[in-house]
Amino acid sequence: MNRNMQGKIVLITGGARGMGRETARMLGAMGAHIIIVDWEGEAGTRLRDEINAGPGSAEFRYCELTRMAAVRKLAAAVLSDHARLDVLFCNAGITDPVRRVTPEGYEHHVATCHLAHFLLTHLLLDRLRQSAPARIILVSSEAHKAGDGLDFDDLNNELIWKDHNKPSNAASFTAYHRAKLSNLYFMYELAERLQGSGVTINAISPGFFVNTSIYRNLTGVFKLGAKIVFGTGTLFGWNTPQRSARTYVKLAADPALEATTAEYFEHEAVKTTSDLARAIEPRKRLWEWSVAQTGVGG
Ligand SMILES: NC(=O)c1ccc[n+]([C@@H]2O[C@H](COP(=O)([O-])OP(=O)(O)OC[C@H]3O[C@@H](n4cnc5c(N)ncnc54)[C@H](OP(=O)(O)O)[C@@H]3O)[C@@H](O)[C@H]2O)c1
Repeated sequence: MNRNMQGKIVLITGGARGMGRETARMLGAMGAHIIIVDWEGEAGTRLRDEINAGPGSAEFRYCELTRMAAVRKLAAAVLSDHARLDVLFCNAGITDPVRRVTPEGYEHHVATCHLAHFLLTHLLLDRLRQSAPARIILVSSEAHKAGDGLDFDDLNNELIWKDHNKPSNAASFTAYHRAKLSNLYFMYELAERLQGSGVTINAISPGFFVNTSIYRNLTGVFKLGAKIVFGTGTLFGWNTPQRSARTYVKLAADPALEATTAEYFEHEAVKTTSDLARAIEPRKRLWEWSVAQTGVGG
């Protein structure tokens, strides 16, 4: 792999912590300019300063991806400050047993994992096209296989929390499964629309129970289970964020992948998505709904 990312501009949502942070560090060390997008201000600015002390450079952009107006503001600022964009990582994600709703009325898994990235990608798409060859990388998960798929009568997850005021691990798993499946529908549909543009779009499964802070909201026996898996995995080094970030870096920087599109990677190798993820009808229906919610992509 070419380790020189000098002159490349890389935007990472959720870049202040977890695998986004490790990816920012690695690509910064290769000389890239990193746009760290997150709502963790302290961690984001600390990381920015750390990268700026090395061979690369970085800026931190505070953004609450749960607010569409904030996503629009972020995109406008990036477009005004950067004449090119080489890599866009749609990485920010959550899993939360508490049902939370954005000011616009969207359940948080839907808003953060899918709608914010659908909107941001479209707002930055012309800049990516102008910078071609350019790469979009969506962070999905094997959780896309662990459920029954989207419920088109309930795309905003109104029904999966039986009681909206009571935390539910089961509801959060369902919401997460749907969100990560939505990432793949987005990838397959956009890959087709981007044919011949020089902009590729691929997805990542970072692995199982990677030791980041994403599971901190789990409760009860699930929290205990996660702690045991984290401890064991860290001991043997199979679930560190650094290991997962290597796949992110490969997708961003490997010249051999310049024309690769609509593929799903785990631990630096191509992996098969579920039959449901490759189905065409649900991805078209999700696309139409996403266009109606965001006003882009039509
Ligand atoms: N860890 C795993 O085992 C695993 C497995 C499969 C897939 N993934 C996926 O990998 C991606 C990265 O996860 P991670 O484990 O690195 O998570 P992480 O450690 O929680 O890092 C994600 C970062 O995104 C931020 N973020 C979340 N929602 C946001 C919002 N609405 N606006 C702005 N920033 C927001 C988080 O802030 P807060 O900390 O304040 O929320 C955090 O700084 C996610 O898409 C996740 O679904 C993770």
